[in-house]
This record gives sequence, structure tokens and C-alpha cells, in this order.
Amino acid sequence: MEQNKNTARLLGAALLVLGGVLGYAAGSAKTEKPAAAAKPAAAETAQAETAAASTPIVQTAKVAAEGTGVVVTNAADWAEKFPNEYTTYMMNDENSEVHSYLELHPYLNTLYEGYGFAIQYGSARGHTYVVEDVQATGRPHKMANCYTCKTSNMTARVLNDGDSAYSMNFEDLSAEITDPFGCFHCHENEPGVLTVTHKYLYNALADDFDSVDPATLSCGQCHSEYHFAPDTKATTLAYTGLDTMNPDDMLNFYNTGFDEPFYDWIEEDTGVKKLKVQHPEFETFLGEGSPHAGMLTCADCHMGKTKAEDGTTFTDHYWTSPLDNQELLDSSCAACHKNLAAEVEAVHERINGRTDELGERLAALDDKLAETVAAGTLGEEELEQVRDDFRSAQWYWDFVFVENGDGAHNEKLATKCLDSAESYMEKIEEVLNR
Ligand code: HEC
Ligand code: HEC
Ligand code: HEC
Ligand code: HEC
Repeated sequence: MEQNKNTARLLGAALLVLGGVLGYAAGSAKTEKPAAAAKPAAAETAQAETAAASTPIVQTAKVAAEGTGVVVTNAADWAEKFPNEYTTYMMNDENSEVHSYLELHPYLNTLYEGYGFAIQYGSARGHTYVVEDVQATGRPHKMANCYTCKTSNMTARVLNDGDSAYSMNFEDLSAEITDPFGCFHCHENEPGVLTVTHKYLYNALADDFDSVDPATLSCGQCHSEYHFAPDTKATTLAYTGLDTMNPDDMLNFYNTGFDEPFYDWIEEDTGVKKLKVQHPEFETFLGEGSPHAGMLTCADCHMGKTKAEDGTTFTDHYWTSPLDNQELLDSSCAACHKNLAAEVEAVHERINGRTDELGERLAALDDKLAETVAAGTLGEEELEQVRDDFRSAQWYWDFVFVENGDGAHNEKLATKCLDSAESYMEKIEEVLNR
């Protein structure tokens, strides 16, 4: 199987380059906003060379209709009609490894103290494991909203019943599951057509929705930073259009967009109203400084085009690291990257190294703040300011820590966030080290 796949990848390589080039032409033709992200000079050249040869295609994603009583067709029921996509989809079972973040980064126990993520926090693995993993977290689940990014049955529930589905009992929804991850999230019941079924993404992008490529929206449905709205418990994103889809405006929204600042939990010993960031791949990849926004889609790097034994070209549904796809690297990325593996390793080292360093430093400050609170040595006003600065420091730090690209999606933005975290930490240190 692996060998067939590799041969197939070689054959599909040429197509990938073509796909990338067309994708870029389409992206630049329709995107005003994402184009704000810096475009690499080499990409400009690539575009100039192909612009004449290709007619720009404007692609916009379909949005699922609501209240239609739609019933999910399970992934397994598509196996016969779409054997290549189904077989590669099932290969996600091979991505089964999990490691404990809490063991790898012990300082997390301090930073997430009092919240579910300090009980159990495993790394991500293949899409086929989502339901199993959410049920086994050991973290408390009150409501079905935890299933938002896990099972198609939840997605269909929300489409059919609206926001009330989010506050259903977790166990009641568990009993309805027939399709653990499925095709429905991305295709509804029309495999091949990219449909946005998670309406909160559509709502959050507002007028900019059509300017984002469907093969990026498809992933942004789940690989994005969300919160549960205090009133409805509905899964919601913290922005209204691409202009406010950045860490600064999102934090500002959490600070000022509600009757009182939004928080995920209050840490008991410090009194800090903490926010937990979650996997902001979408916001990071499309954010300011991204070298590939408007040029490549999530699928271009994480799903390749490949060829089946019978010669059919199809999209590989095994979601992996681009570094595990040598043919993709050679054919598509090599035009601009001589040794991408080494480049990625270097980015990871820079970003992860600094993230760990700042995480340790923030955890030490967390302990120190707890001591200060217990000692009662700070005036209420000053204490409130330190708490607020701590909330900001942890927000910016977590925005990088939980982003699964570890710097590879947008090193500039990751660096900017770490700079912000550090400057808040310096401010806190000034007060606590007096
Ligand atoms: C996470 C999103 C996602 C899920 C889940 C998903 N697909 Fe896809 N699918 C895509 C993307 C992205 C493409 C590429 C579309 C493009 O290039 O325009 C695609 C393309 C396809 C195509 C068009 C032909 C091809 O291979 O390019 C078919 C058919 C298809 N998928 C079937 C399925 C089936 C069957 C399942 C479930 C077993 C499934 N997909 C699950 C995202 C998804
Ligand atoms: C319905 C929600 C959903 C959609 C849509 C989705 N993902 Fe995911 N993805 C997840 C979840 C949840 C996990 C973690 C699964 C686990 O650990 O149990 C995950 C895991 C992954 C992983 C494995 C991560 C690892 O560390 O091994 C990759 C790669 C990935 N997704 C890429 C994509 C891409 C690319 C797209 C779009 C084509 C996409 N995903 C669309 C929810 C989604
Ligand atoms: C230009 C190529 C590129 C694009 C576009 C891209 N990624 Fe990635 N992504 C990477 C690289 C490189 C890594 C790091 C892989 C590694 O360390 O092996 C990565 C890592 C990940 C991971 C962690 C999985 C793993 O195996 O490490 C997830 C999940 C992910 N990306 C999702 C997304 C989503 C969602 C999007 C779109 C919003 C996206 N990516 C866009 C290149 C890309
Ligand atoms: C048209 C040129 C071009 C192509 C094609 C291209 N890249 Fe890049 N990529 C760039 C530029 C420019 C940068 C910015 C880094 C730099 O300054 O060296 C970059 C940076 C990156 C980074 C580091 C992230 C960051 O923020 O600096 C990763 C990871 C990456 N590319 C992955 C890929 C992958 C995977 C592919 C193939 C699917 C690919 N690239 C194709 C131009 C390109």
C-alpha cells in the first residue's frame, strides 16, 4: 500500500504543481483582504509567469442550508462510490500516536491549574480518532458543544435544530453518533463539493467569506480559535471579518465584547481571569506575515493530489505533515525551498525553544503572583492591573503554544505574539520583583 502510494504520489506530482499555480491565480484574483498578507517575491514571479497562461477561476464555498432535517450519510457508506478517498481517509488510523503535553511541558500544570487541560492534555492525532479522544479526555464535558469539531452527527444537529443543539446533554449526543468524523463536515452529503457546514465560520468571516479559498475554509471550520457564547453555549469565533481576525483584536473582543470580560476560568490562587486559546491554525495561516496566504490552501500542503492504480487522479484524504510527502516537497515546494525539512526544523527550534522558555518564565510568575496575593502586599488597583497583564501575557503565549504548525504556518506572527507575551511579562516582573 505504502509503495503504491509513493509511486502514485510521483505521478501526481506534476498535477500538484499545476494545481498550486492555478490555486494561486484564483487566490490573487479574488482576494483583496488575504492579499494584505506579505506575498513572497518569488511568488510574484511565479504568478506573473502563469497569469497569462491561465484564466483566473473564482471559487467560493457552498454554505449548508439550515432546518432541512438533513440526515448524515456515514463515511463507510461512501466507500464503494469513492474508494480512493475513503481508503486514504481510513489511513488516518495510522496517525495514532499521542503524547502528553503535561508530561513534556510540566510548567503547563501551573499555567492551566484549575482548568480541564491541567487534568489531561494529549497531542492531536488522526481525524478518525476524534470521538474516541474527546470521550476519553478525563476533562469534564457538560454539553454537546464539545462535539462540535468531532462528529458529523453534531454538525447535522446544529444545522437542523440551530443553536439549541449546543447545550444538549453530552451523553444524549453520544448516543446519536453513527459517524465519528466523516465526510459530512466538508462535503455535506455530496462528496467532492466543498461545503461549509459549521455556520459559525461563515458568520465570523462576514463579508470576507467569499474571499477565502474553500480548501482553507474547509479546515478553518475546526482548526480555529473558538469560545462558547455565554448565553447560548454555541460555538463562536471571536471576530467579524478578516480585519479583526488577529490576536490583538480577538483579545480586545474577549475583554470588551461582553458585559464583563470573557474568561474560560478564574485561577483560584492568583485570581487571574484566564483564557484558553485553541488551535488557531486558520487565524495564523491567514494572518499578517504569512508567506503563503492567498497562494496555497491548507489542502495544498496537507492533502496532495495522487493517482490510483487505475490511473484516476484524486485528492489524498490522509491528512499528514507535508514533510512526510517527499514527492510534494520535490515537485511543488522545491521551486522555492531547497531543503524544506531543514527549514521547518529550524523554524520549530526557534519558535518551540522560545515558547518553552517563556512558558517556564510565565509559570514562575504565576507562582510568584499567588504568593503575592496570599501575602496581601499589593493594593487592589495594582493587583487588578497585574492580573490583567497576566491574562494578556498568557493569551499571546498560548496563541503560539497551541498552534499546531509550531511556527511553520507563519513564523512572523508567532514571533510577534511571543514578543507581546514577553513585554507583558516584563511589566508584571517590574511590579512583583520590587
Ligand atoms: C476535512 C475536510 C474533508 C473531509 C472530512 C473529506 N474531504 Fe473530500 N475533499 C476535501 C478537499 C479539500 C478536497 C479537494 C477539493 C478541491 O481540490 O477542490 C476533497 C475532494 C474530494 C472529492 C473530489 C475528488 C478528489 O478526490 O479530488 C471526493 C469525491 C471526496 N473528497 C470524497 C470524500 C469522502 C468520500 C470523504 C469521507 C470518507 C471525504 N471526502 C472527506 C476535504 C474533505
Ligand atoms: C470537523 C472538525 C475538523 C475539520 C473540518 C478538520 N479537522 Fe483536522 N483535526 C480535527 C481534530 C479534532 C483533530 C485532533 C484529533 C484527535 O487528536 O483525536 C484534528 C487533527 C488533524 C491533524 C493531525 C494532527 C497531528 O498532530 O497528528 C491534521 C494534519 C489535520 N487535522 C489537518 C486538517 C486539515 C488540513 C483539514 C482541512 C482539509 C482539517 N484538518 C479539517 C478536527 C478537524
Ligand atoms: C505552506 C504549507 C502549509 C499550509 C498552507 C498549511 N500548513 Fe499546516 N503545516 C505545515 C507544516 C510544514 C507543518 C509542520 C509539519 C511538521 O513539523 O512535520 C504543519 C503542521 C500542521 C499541523 C500539525 C500536524 C503535524 O503533523 O505536525 C496541523 C494540524 C496543520 N498544519 C493544519 C493546517 C491547517 C488547518 C491549515 C490551513 C488553515 C494549514 N495547516 C496550512 C505546512 C502548511
Ligand atoms: C512561490 C514560492 C514558494 C512556494 C512554491 C512555496 N513556498 Fe514556502 N515559503 C516561501 C517564502 C518566500 C517563505 C518565507 C520564508 C523566507 O523568507 O525564507 C516561505 C516559508 C515557508 C515556511 C516557513 C514559514 C514561515 O512563516 O516562514 C514553510 C513551513 C513553508 N514555506 C512550506 C512550504 C511548503 C510545504 C510548500 C509546498 C507545498 C511551499 N512552502 C511552497 C515561498 C514559497
